[in-house]
Amino acid sequence: MLLENDSMLYCRLFSYFRRLKMYGASLCAYQANMALTDEINKRRTFGIISHPDAGKTTLTEKLLLFGGAIQTAGAVKSNKIKKTATSDFMEIEKQRGISVATSVMSFEYKGKLINILDTPGHKDFAEDTYRTLTAVDSVIMVVDSVKGVEAQTRKLMEICSMRKTPVIVFINKLDREGRDPFDLLDEIEKELKIRVRPLSWPINRGTLFKGVYDLHKKYLNLFKPSTTKVADEVLQIKDINDKELDKQVGEKDAAQLREDAETVEIVYDNFSVEEYLKGNLAPVFFGSAVNNFGVQELLETFLEISPTPRGRETDTRFVGSTENKMTGFIFKIHANLDPKHRDRIAFMRIISGKFERHTYYHHVRLKKNFRFSTPVTFMAQSKNIVDEAYPGDVVGLYDTGNFKIGDVLTEGEDFQIRGIPSFSPEIFKELVNTDPMKSKQLEKGITQLTDEGVAQLFTQQPGNRRFVGAVGELQFEVIQYRLLHEYAASCRFEPISMTRACWLRSDNQQKLEEFTRFKHSNIVRDKDGHLVYLAPSDWFLKMERENNPDIQFHFNSEFKTESLVV
Ligand code: G4P
Repeated sequence: MLLENDSMLYCRLFSYFRRLKMYGASLCAYQANMALTDEINKRRTFGIISHPDAGKTTLTEKLLLFGGAIQTAGAVKSNKIKKTATSDFMEIEKQRGISVATSVMSFEYKGKLINILDTPGHKDFAEDTYRTLTAVDSVIMVVDSVKGVEAQTRKLMEICSMRKTPVIVFINKLDREGRDPFDLLDEIEKELKIRVRPLSWPINRGTLFKGVYDLHKKYLNLFKPSTTKVADEVLQIKDINDKELDKQVGEKDAAQLREDAETVEIVYDNFSVEEYLKGNLAPVFFGSAVNNFGVQELLETFLEISPTPRGRETDTRFVGSTENKMTGFIFKIHANLDPKHRDRIAFMRIISGKFERHTYYHHVRLKKNFRFSTPVTFMAQSKNIVDEAYPGDVVGLYDTGNFKIGDVLTEGEDFQIRGIPSFSPEIFKELVNTDPMKSKQLEKGITQLTDEGVAQLFTQQPGNRRFVGAVGELQFEVIQYRLLHEYAASCRFEPISMTRACWLRSDNQQKLEEFTRFKHSNIVRDKDGHLVYLAPSDWFLKMERENNPDIQFHFNSEFKTESLVV
């Protein structure tokens, strides 16, 4: 009897301890998840985009100043910072003085960790910018108040709309004789096809520019030209009808501001964070980046409303950022950050889970496991080895040629991230080897450079002819320069009369084969072996489409968002 009681007691105790253990395990998992959620909530990953010269670099540097990531106030005009600015990595960029490379700048501000993914403003590197936009959760679009919406602004906005990326607009250079703010807003709405809602309003512009009234938080920020100060003192005016406003800016301008503010209320929808997060409504700020004016308001509202790191759609399922298992994808590959060391660095955006140094991760395309002993993060100008990183972070992985743009690392699951397509290049040239003794070097060089996404490589068989497609002329010069300096291979580019690449698909295999046989001089394969038709002109393309209704001609490699970027 006693024995029976004992064994019952043991059983109970055993089950009690087992439950305690399970409870402990789930508590640990819960705590780990909470810690992950805290890290995610802390982060904001975004890009600043603009047409060249609108002030993107200036705004980026001012934001870094706020974060204390760089100390030299008024750095934009100083050559010292220009030399060490993170966007100045590449030798060629130094030579040409344009921002060729996309780089990452991280800094902390008021408890938030901000990752700015810089994008090359030059239109010839637009594809690099398009890819970077796959790695951000939101963007700040800089518009020049004198020039308004420009060509590159339109193209970049198309990518944002396609991805439903939340956009904040910063209308810059208010210290210059710019256009009427209402006209500018109209133009943004019409040309960029997005609803806007001003959250601040300028008092005059150019030499008469007096400041900005924050319509959202109701305060007046008076303008004092200064390229060196980080913050201006702001005057709180809770009621726009307060006589203090007249005292500060003069009766005429105060009356105009009241009228404008009333018009804003009537004309524009109320600001809604939800609509902004859906990518339907862009809040607008006015300021002058070079004078550090309006930048802090922009930054603080950005931190208040911008999205925390988001998950990503894959070909099998949606991967949420709070999932415990690590997922990341490569959106950029950069060679020779340090010309002395011939580094190649793959930039990985973390989508979910915690990334850890020295841990094995599954390379989905190669079906191999890799671990990284020196992953780096980027704090303004410097790279630092990182032990762990979280969703929204960008980690630099040293690479010996294992990565291509779009590659995915996971903890074992197989999937591909959607939404990193190749778009049709705009210029095509044939690559001709000018030193037959260096064929191998040329082969290796062009493969690696196109893996990096510098341009797209198409191959034609028979004959093994190589065609390079790029968005701008400058990329051909970059390739030629880098092939020579990094791979000791020399080449020349010969123009060909092709204007558009179309990825082909058909359910009718026979028709597709007939078409590719008949049009063999225009048929090539991209790096992944996909069939591509190179069209001599839009007219030819239209004809081929009409004559071959069984074949689909796609303007990007992912076959999803046809009408956009063509
Ligand atoms: P980007 O990256 O978009 O190409 O533009 P960036 O910041 O390099 O700015 C382009 C030019 O516009 C720079 O002048 C910059 O100083 C100027 N700029 C930026 N913000 C403002 C502003 O609020 N007001 C005025 N008036 N100018 C502004 P730059 O002469 O080309 O170069 P720098 O000699 O000043 O460096």
